[in-house]
Amino acid sequence: MQEFKARRDQLLASMGEGVAIVPTAAEVVRNRDSHYPYRFDSYFYHLTGFKEPESVLILIAGDKPKSILFCREKDMEREIWDGFRYGPKAAQDSFGVDEAYTINQLDEMMPTLLSNQAKLFYSLGAEAGWDMKVTQWLNQVKDLARTGVSAPEAILDVRQLVDCQRLIKTPYEMEMMRRSAKIAAVAHNRAMQKTKAGKMEYEIEAEFLHEFYRKGAQAPAYTSIVAGGANACTLHYNANNCQLNDGDLLLIDAGCELDGYASDITRTFPVNGKFSAPQKDLYEMVLAAQLAAIDVAKPGNHWNMPHEVALDVLVQGFIDVGLCQGSKDEVLENGSYRQFYMHRTGHWLGLDVHDVGDYKDKQGNWTTLAAGHVLTVEPGCYVRPAENVPEHFWNIGIRIEDDVLITAQGNEVLSKDAIKSVADIEAQMADGQ
Ligand code: GLY
Ligand code: MN
Ligand code: MN
Repeated sequence: MQEFKARRDQLLASMGEGVAIVPTAAEVVRNRDSHYPYRFDSYFYHLTGFKEPESVLILIAGDKPKSILFCREKDMEREIWDGFRYGPKAAQDSFGVDEAYTINQLDEMMPTLLSNQAKLFYSLGAEAGWDMKVTQWLNQVKDLARTGVSAPEAILDVRQLVDCQRLIKTPYEMEMMRRSAKIAAVAHNRAMQKTKAGKMEYEIEAEFLHEFYRKGAQAPAYTSIVAGGANACTLHYNANNCQLNDGDLLLIDAGCELDGYASDITRTFPVNGKFSAPQKDLYEMVLAAQLAAIDVAKPGNHWNMPHEVALDVLVQGFIDVGLCQGSKDEVLENGSYRQFYMHRTGHWLGLDVHDVGDYKDKQGNWTTLAAGHVLTVEPGCYVRPAENVPEHFWNIGIRIEDDVLITAQGNEVLSKDAIKSVADIEAQMADGQ
């Protein structure tokens, strides 16, 4: 409760004056009366910790700052069907907001709450239904002009302010992300151990999902990728319905969500437990690139440095094994490496898998890494069959991805329990066979 109150207080202070409106996400119908699994809005959750749909947070900044939660009312009939709901009174007590009302009171109360406020902090354009409501409330306030009431003159994007908060993780968030990554890391190890030629990709998916749910994660943090052989060269492959072949690699990109916090881990390993020589050459290269990139993920270095360092190692490796021709500078300059490495080396991680936060400042300079940032480091190498490519590398797709917390001293690899050295992988898989 203190954690979420502190986040609201931080936002209230950065607003200075005015009213913020932060709605949660709507439930989405799948068909008829069935819904998709509900996922709250990350901004709303960041400020409340409240997971129920049909809720809105209102913050009033100024001399007497105030937080107001609107949520579903208690309803025994609905609770018999759908389960517990807090209702305003219990929500106020449990989540530490100053006031709470039912969502049905929102339309009636908002014009008053918006009256004589200079600024409205609201994310216009994010959701059309809310835009319409907000417009209606503003028009109602404007209609009161003759009685001396004024409407907000400025609408500012509340999300921009919250993005800055979300980018630097609090100790509580660090611990949640540590736990989320730990669950996912152990799940990757289990999936690796259960892999055998002849199994289906979805059977391996079931192994890590088993571990996610068994450890209390509520869901995968994104659509899992379980890609055997050539499938790994499709970056967003997620059919996960092919058989695993002896002699192929298996790439798994999967993370879980624990109380809102995402992990995002990729491991690549041989289906039969033993790397072939070409697979090992490329794997060791990607691993070297990843370790070098993690090494420079530390305070004071800029955001792009891990990417630059990883790219440097990969490009030299591509030249050494005959995938690229020319000097390192030439290959970096002409971009021929993009045939084998076409994505960037990471992203912010948090409540969203591709989390919010700026990568550059307004002058175009890369963000400087600082304690509390969490990012992924995920170089890869994807070799599709082509005339200019030695055949022994065809259809090898490799990515190695870890979640890295920047600390005052350097960094902490949150996903370090997921094994990744050639020796550890081969030993673990020998155990599992
Ligand atoms: N799994 C999404 C990503 O690696 O960015
Ligand atoms: Mn990622
Ligand atoms: Mn990933």
